[in-house]
Amino acid sequence: MSIQEETVHTQNKIEVKDVCFDYVDKKSSFAALDHINLSIKEGEFICILGSSGCGKATLLGLLNGLNKAKSGKILLDGKPIAGPGPDRAVVFQQYSLFPWLTAKGNILFGIKQSGKKYSKKEREEKAEEYLRSVGLAAARDKYPSQLSGGMKQRVALAIALSLEPKLLLADEPTSALDVTVQAQVVREMLQVRKQFGMTILIVTHNIGVASRMEDHIVVMKNGEQREYGTRQQVIEHPQNEYTRYLLSAVPELEA
Ligand SMILES: Nc1ncnc2c1ncn2[C@@H]1O[C@H](COP(=O)(O)OP(=O)(O)OP(=O)(O)O)[C@@H](O)[C@H]1O
Ligand SMILES: [Mg+2]
Repeated sequence: MSIQEETVHTQNKIEVKDVCFDYVDKKSSFAALDHINLSIKEGEFICILGSSGCGKATLLGLLNGLNKAKSGKILLDGKPIAGPGPDRAVVFQQYSLFPWLTAKGNILFGIKQSGKKYSKKEREEKAEEYLRSVGLAAARDKYPSQLSGGMKQRVALAIALSLEPKLLLADEPTSALDVTVQAQVVREMLQVRKQFGMTILIVTHNIGVASRMEDHIVVMKNGEQREYGTRQQVIEHPQNEYTRYLLSAVPELEA
């Protein structure tokens, strides 16, 4: 079936339908995703919550087009995802910056590579705007070796935001940040989402970050989707036993 034939009309930005994915090598096969279903509306800020190894990055890889599902369908704007594209930006868990470029230089490089036709002045303005937005204006001229882990992570996020993609996929974008900066970065993502009409999907194992979501949360365990709902449903009235277990494992939320 051709891509055109498979196109369906949908209002959703992303449709994940009954998706399974196995990591396969010569000796073994490992089922990393088991019948995942998601509907993400344009402009939504969705969070995938789950503990280590539950398949968060694997799902992100499918949405980015790096991996292909074993079965099921993933539609972006109603069309099957054929590979990575300029409409999506990814902040990887293992982000990398060029060590010979400053924080600002790394952002400028990212904008240049994006293929967007900005003038030099516009690139400068965007780099400054996004440095400010992640609280790094004062560190603009520092090299990665002079930045802390959290600062480097914020540069990687600023690069992704500065590309102003339609869909931002971020793998643990706040994991190396202290709690006050986490809150600031989540606020910034909410702000750019409104400003540019971005759809944002982040994966995290941090319930504090998930509880700041305005839209939906997906809870995953062992490649399975355990719960899907609004923040109020999932955090305040969890229906699933595993979600309740995750929440009970965070003593400060109970206070
Ligand atoms: N290339 C691979 N080959 C085989 N198995 C893999 C591969 N990559 C990941 N896995 C397995 O798939 C499962 C899901 O991995 P994934 O990286 O998606 O987890 P995650 O939810 O992002 O975890 P974390 O929170 O630790 O980053 C894990 O059990 C992992 O061991
Ligand atoms: Mg991961």
